[in-house]
Formats: sequence, C-alpha cells, structure tokens
Amino acid sequence: MQEPHVFKAEPTAVMVEKGKTYAWCTCGLSQKNPFCDGHHKTIDGMPFKPLRFTAEEDAEVWLCNCKHTKNPPFCDGTHEQFKK
Ligand code: FES
Repeated sequence: MQEPHVFKAEPTAVMVEKGKTYAWCTCGLSQKNPFCDGHHKTIDGMPFKPLRFTAEEDAEVWLCNCKHTKNPPFCDGTHEQFKK
C-alpha cells in the first residue's frame, strides 16, 4: 500500500461552518492543504481520493497535514513522528 505524502508535520486550524461540506486532501500533494485541489487526479495509479466531511457545527477544528492521522480529517498528534 502506497503511503501518503507528508505535506507538513503540523496541523492547520480551520474555521468550519455547520452544514458545509469540505474535501480534505488524503494524498498530501495538494497546494491548498489541508484541502484537496484535485492534484491527486494528475497522477496515474494514485490510490488516494479526498475525504469529504460535513461540519456538524460552526467551530475551529485542527485538520491533519501529515496525512497519517488515525482520526481523519482531524489531527491526532501522529505528525510528531515526522518532525525532524
Ligand atoms: S489533492 Fe490530495 S486528495 Fe486531492
């Protein structure tokens, strides 16, 4: 299984709006991380697709940028293992 690219070893705080749907990048190659910019479509054999989620409330959330979280799309601290 191919591993996602580590975009950044820290999460991004994002304000989400209740009822709005977001597309979180799972491949790590988007230039608009933590969100998908369609880059995954440009690579043959790419096993990753964006994870769409709908915000349940207006809130600030921490979205994963290392793409290895066990609680996608949210940061679970896994990025610590990628810090140099
Ligand atoms: S660019 Fe990464 S999932 Fe779309």
